[in-house]
Amino acid sequence: MRKKIVAGNWKMNKTLDEGLKLTSEIVNMVPDEVNNDALVIIAPPFVHLTAVRNLLKDQDRVHLAAQNCHSEESGAYTGEISASMLASAGAGYVIIGHSERREYFHETNEELAKKVNIALANKLTPVFCCGESLEIREEGNYVEYVSNQLKESLFHLPDEDLSRVIIAYEPIWAIGTGKTASSEQAQEMHAALRKYIASAYSDELADNLSVLYGGSCKPSNARKLFACPDVDGGLIGGASLSSRDFVDIIKSF
Ligand code: 13P
Repeated sequence: MRKKIVAGNWKMNKTLDEGLKLTSEIVNMVPDEVNNDALVIIAPPFVHLTAVRNLLKDQDRVHLAAQNCHSEESGAYTGEISASMLASAGAGYVIIGHSERREYFHETNEELAKKVNIALANKLTPVFCCGESLEIREEGNYVEYVSNQLKESLFHLPDEDLSRVIIAYEPIWAIGTGKTASSEQAQEMHAALRKYIASAYSDELADNLSVLYGGSCKPSNARKLFACPDVDGGLIGGASLSSRDFVDIIKSF
């Protein structure tokens, strides 16, 4: 059975005090019964990880992710953070290949494959992001484009490693724009990706992978999106910065 997941990507938002306040509110507001049904993850900025980990350590409702890692284990990469550092700081998950990283930091499918490898080697669960631009959507070949992102960054993995990955489909045209993919558009892509994974691996592996939707997901549309058979939850940006909105999204399953 695949897991239902809601993950909050804070991006470059929140000072330390604000982040700790948000974390405490989320921990206090997530209902106990959510524990059995859904996994809740928050991804604060790197510098807050240890302090947020300390707030999370006596509970198991909310889990910790980082927003990125470097593709090498260690070395002369000033300003960068390695997967082993994240693991040692208490992160269990790491977002890899967010469209903002691909666009502003020129991360390629090839480099992301290395990041996935190093995350897995350090026992971090990758939350692997994929998604197309508006231009590609309008050209019509969006399923092939996103499928190719999976192929080039994930399909070198053996079955047991791919089965540890969480996939997040985030159409770039829906991120931070207030324009959400319709539930039909999300379902179409999620089902197509699952089918593609099944054809490269197996039905069983594809059925057990969680595929999240991201892109202007909020309390008002989460219920409809999460009701799609192949949408297993959400990767939330803007709405994860408000404890009330984030928890309302969690309650949308
Ligand atoms: P928004 O929810 O702000 O559109 O961001 C989505 C996202 O990029 C999550 O990683």
